[in-house]
Amino acid sequence: MVFHVLSLFPQMVAGCMDFSVIKRAVESGLVTLDCIDIRAFSSSKRSQADDAPYGGGAGMVMSAQPIVAACASAKEKSKEAPVIYLSPRGEPFTQRMAEELARESALILLCGHYEGIDERALEEIGAREVSIGDFVLTGGEIAAMAVMDSVSRLVPGVLGKEESHQFDSFSDGLLEYPQYTRPPVFMGREVPEVLLSGHHKNVDSWRRKQSLAITLKRRPDLLEKADLGKSDLKYLSELGYKKGMGSALKGIITVIGKDQMGIIARVCTFLSGEGINILDISQTIVQGYFTMMMIVDLDSVSKRFEELAESLRVLGEEIGVQAKLQHEDIFNSMHRI
Ligand SMILES: C[S@@+](CC[C@H](N)C(=O)[O-])C[C@H]1O[C@@H](n2cnc3c(N)ncnc32)[C@H](O)[C@@H]1O
Repeated sequence: MVFHVLSLFPQMVAGCMDFSVIKRAVESGLVTLDCIDIRAFSSSKRSQADDAPYGGGAGMVMSAQPIVAACASAKEKSKEAPVIYLSPRGEPFTQRMAEELARESALILLCGHYEGIDERALEEIGAREVSIGDFVLTGGEIAAMAVMDSVSRLVPGVLGKEESHQFDSFSDGLLEYPQYTRPPVFMGREVPEVLLSGHHKNVDSWRRKQSLAITLKRRPDLLEKADLGKSDLKYLSELGYKKGMGSALKGIITVIGKDQMGIIARVCTFLSGEGINILDISQTIVQGYFTMMMIVDLDSVSKRFEELAESLRVLGEEIGVQAKLQHEDIFNSMHRI
């Protein structure tokens, strides 16, 4: 795997592979780091690589020309390498993405600085924008280092045993179980007995249960997409888990109006057309008035919430009922008030 890192401050990145497992990977030729100084590609007399933003505003913007030229130089070395721009507005970097990127033979990682990069450079080099989290860093270098580190350890041969990343957090969609090493008792705290038993099946089962319990407690959203077997679901339900409860984005739909044929069918057809999953539903008729409440999973919906709510309202008008989509958070904050 070759990482070409385009940066205004390549010295920030240069030493990041001089330690631990990644150092060994570099020494054995499995991973190569190529730091490229964007400024060296500037065609301006004073090697300028940034300028004031058009339209005004604070800060500076990295100019397109040096970036496109620096990227072309990386492409000369690795023609097929995808270009990734580390950016807070990019798609979230996940273990899945790390696995996907580890299958490439080279990556070009573009680090921004200041207010960011002239959009035309990003269009010209066809950059995929990737974010390492919902926060803003001063520059893309730390983000590039995070990406390189997690991708490198997935390159075959980098970790001692091929299976050592198999049970890492996120690899199977769950968080990792707790780990222990010697001594067996530390400040009065004992290692769980099962880990000392030498009974591999029991150890595996204990670890799986621990993973499930920790994921339910800390990141229930992950359970919605994890590959869970029957025994996993049984154990989770003992812990109080119900399918859909970890969904990060839930909506509440209410439909009220004079009862008539086909209301449920029309609403359900609308929801399935928008890729919305119904998690729970309750419907009744009170003295000729139709009332329905649904809890829906909005996680995989691409439309904006307001747009969806408006489309549902319009559908309600067509049917002759009042149909409302509200964010679950509204009810949570009402409860707090
Ligand atoms: C100060 S930030 C620019 C932020 C930009 N004005 C915005 O609001 O999107 C400078 C650079 O840091 C990098 N950066 C900042 N936060 C990041 C994040 N969460 N993930 C990846 N890169 C990030 C990007 O390369 C970005 O161009």
